[in-house]
Amino acid sequence: MNKKRLIISLLAIITVVGATVGSYVYRDTIYSRIARTAAVVSGQAIKPLLDSESRYIRQIVAQDNSTSRTIMWQSDNSESDAIIEYRQDGTDTIQTINATDKAFTDDGSTTYIHEATLTGLTPNTKYEYRVGYGTDRRSDWYRLETAGASVYDVLIYPDSQSGDYSQWEEIVKSSALRNPRTALYISMGDLVDNGEQAYQWRTWLNSIKPLSANVPLATTLGNHEMYTLDWKMREPYAYLNYFAVPPNGNEIFNRRYYSYDFGDVHYIVLDTMLYESNHEDNHDTHHPDLYDVQVQWLHQDLTTNTKKWTVVLMHRDPFQYAFDRPGANRAIGFDDEGVLFMPIFDEFNVDLVLSAHLHSYRNRGHVRNFDRDLSGPLYILTGIAGDARRPKWKEHPLDVYVAPDRDKNNYMTMTVTPNKLIVKAFLPDGTQLDESVIEK
Ligand SMILES: [Fe+2]
Repeated sequence: MNKKRLIISLLAIITVVGATVGSYVYRDTIYSRIARTAAVVSGQAIKPLLDSESRYIRQIVAQDNSTSRTIMWQSDNSESDAIIEYRQDGTDTIQTINATDKAFTDDGSTTYIHEATLTGLTPNTKYEYRVGYGTDRRSDWYRLETAGASVYDVLIYPDSQSGDYSQWEEIVKSSALRNPRTALYISMGDLVDNGEQAYQWRTWLNSIKPLSANVPLATTLGNHEMYTLDWKMREPYAYLNYFAVPPNGNEIFNRRYYSYDFGDVHYIVLDTMLYESNHEDNHDTHHPDLYDVQVQWLHQDLTTNTKKWTVVLMHRDPFQYAFDRPGANRAIGFDDEGVLFMPIFDEFNVDLVLSAHLHSYRNRGHVRNFDRDLSGPLYILTGIAGDARRPKWKEHPLDVYVAPDRDKNNYMTMTVTPNKLIVKAFLPDGTQLDESVIEK
């Protein structure tokens, strides 16, 4: 062992001991401390980031994903000179943009959020990017591929809210492994059980690691994102800070509903949280006009949509189910969200409507004017991908497939092709439950 190597080894040991006994054991893995120390000691120009400087590096959908993409990550301390570097695959020209350094405090813990949107990208093209600070601290390079391919795969995850997130973590890991070409992944809302609890967000943001740095995420707002620690309603502060989805032009409801284009599909993400937003005793969340404003926006958005396919993502299901237990008196039919939004989906020939919230996978087939009609949108209730089981629901007359075991989780895939949308549901072990093909 030469002298330089001996010094590096000694410093590594000191770092490990320091990390173990000091507070850093909670903030950085020993591996990230050793890698940084080794880079400093050996005089490398670029030093790797510590874990505490590079948490949850993630891609978020931008409005037009063929030319733009949002990158976010977090650090435990303020970093005023946060940047993103990117380059087209196979080229050496690196472009650099500045990212934010925004302190976000919730549930007694503070994190610094860095975000920026890359724009002016070339469609259907492979890039790589890395994040960092100043001139000498950088993450690894991650891949980024712009939309534009005529065929691509999507992973879709229903409610992941959990007491113990291990089942959800396993679903992300195994489904990502099984679908290595995934170009986009979608969360249907109720990502976490309690939207104020910081540890749940840390767990959730860690759980998406098999996808997050290399594949863009589109989130949907669920009711559980709107709960305080004592289960009252609040604005979905943490959700809105952690997912910089595209703006919708409305200052009050910004990021709560939005739309984006990916290939030849226009995705519309609705905010179905009127109940959570309509409490007169809580000025913070009193927004009785949420649906009026959104219906106006939806008309405008669908009028200007030029894509071949239109897919709607909404947390609350537009169908109404009755509890399968004695004395339950909720009628089977359509709920307020269905009565309000389904005629608009009919009018604009939406192809597919995905929903969640009821923790049950159900395919209701094509429906127009509240009845079976092959010319109407296909309605799929996406199921459950966490450990929060709900009471059993009775069958709806329009159900064409119901997952047989309500104690089992599931995930979904969608393959987009020039003339088909192929939608499938799977058990966590990869067993296929259901398949639908929409042709146009
Ligand atoms: Fe929900």
